[in-house]
Amino acid sequence: MDKYVINGGRKLYGEVEISGAKNAAVAIIPAALMVDGVCRIENIPQISDTDMLLTILSEMGAKVRMLNRTTVEIDCTSVRKDGAPFELMRKIRASYYLIGAMLGRFGSAKTTMPGGCNFGVRPIDQHIKGMTALGAHVEVKGGFVCADCPEQGLTGAKIYLDKVSVGATMNIMLAATTAKGKTTIENAAREPHIVDLANFLNSMGADVRGAGTDTIKIYGVPKLKSGSYSIIPDQIEAGTYMAAVAAAGGEVTIKNVIPKHLDCISAKLREMGVEIEEYADSVVVRRNGKLQRANVKTQPYPGFPTDMQPQISTVLCMAEGTSVVTEGVWDNRYKYISELKKMGAEVQVDGKTAVIEGVPMLTGAPVVACDLRAGAAVVIAGLAASGTTVVEDVVYIERGYENLVGKLTAIGADIVCVSEPDDPGISDTPAIV
Ligand code: EPZ
Repeated sequence: MDKYVINGGRKLYGEVEISGAKNAAVAIIPAALMVDGVCRIENIPQISDTDMLLTILSEMGAKVRMLNRTTVEIDCTSVRKDGAPFELMRKIRASYYLIGAMLGRFGSAKTTMPGGCNFGVRPIDQHIKGMTALGAHVEVKGGFVCADCPEQGLTGAKIYLDKVSVGATMNIMLAATTAKGKTTIENAAREPHIVDLANFLNSMGADVRGAGTDTIKIYGVPKLKSGSYSIIPDQIEAGTYMAAVAAAGGEVTIKNVIPKHLDCISAKLREMGVEIEEYADSVVVRRNGKLQRANVKTQPYPGFPTDMQPQISTVLCMAEGTSVVTEGVWDNRYKYISELKKMGAEVQVDGKTAVIEGVPMLTGAPVVACDLRAGAAVVIAGLAASGTTVVEDVVYIERGYENLVGKLTAIGADIVCVSEPDDPGISDTPAIV
């Protein structure tokens, strides 16, 4: 298993380029399944989540051709609905998007229950509610999700999501693009990646309106056609580098971002004493003084993103005073705190709330990446800490961050990836977000 070895205490200087958004890419790639033709997708992040999804499509009969490092052509003309590699699906959270895509293309779908990071139960009842409202018969049995359309296919419906759900919003959007009539999704999630999926679908001839608001209308079309699209920059990857500079200190230009998507993160970091300058497609992050305490409540977009909660909490561990972090989306997203405590962090967790007493300096230690963003958090801690931090289980991190070691090294971090022979006792690679 690979691990990172970080010698901390070095300020960060230079430029880092943000890759395409993971949580947009993992919905857009399955959407290509809906076309019996070629789709061209640019700015795909080079991460194992996207590799895995491209492998799943090709195992189902798609022709997948990488035109360059970040551009792929996917031809799903000869995709078979029953070719799905279940053992791969089980490893990917986003395999649930194959339900909506397969229903829209074939009128039936069989996938595994999605995997997912270990931060609490991650139900899919809202996905099922949406597909059922469109007329599909959905059954969850033996770890599989089976969905079938009636003879006449799917029919548009009005769907009110009981919980703001990114996955359910995008999954229903996928299935509704070729349903007969109009579908309205109310209480929809508003994340930037939802707008990205809608834009891609519309490039394929779909008629999706209102993405980015809490009410999305989809007017069904008989068939989708080949589309092409370039994925937006990753809001959370950008936020992670912003948090790294805040923690370690220094001045870094973060390029290829959409500053508007970072508003909440920038506002919170400014509150903590970090300087942020915004330009058309970049932000400059500077921190030389002391970090100030702050309170954080994570909520659906445009609130403070839950996927930035571990990273911002890590920065707060070195801020003067007491900070309170409230996790508003997931039941239990504090597993990483036990790793930070090994480095000297002083945090008390009670349910969805973490009370953080800032300390002047963390100390390097051997830690593990509990999940994708937890892994990012301990890397940030290692960059800021005195001494050496060794991060195990980096396989989680490398599923959501393209070339993290290379990008951090380029801005002055002392971080290397060390490969060690797998321990025969370790089970296969863990499920992911
Ligand atoms: C997506 O997960 C992201 N993953 C997550 O990012 C992110 O944390 C989450 O959205 C929220 O922004 C991907 O896009 C692959 P949800 P998803 O459905 O779709 C409840 C990362 O770090 N819920 O928006 O699974 C759920 O329990 C990952 O990149 C239901 O109750 O999240 C949670 O409390 C981690 N029933 C809330 O809604 C459902 O049917 C939000 O979940 C679905 C969700």
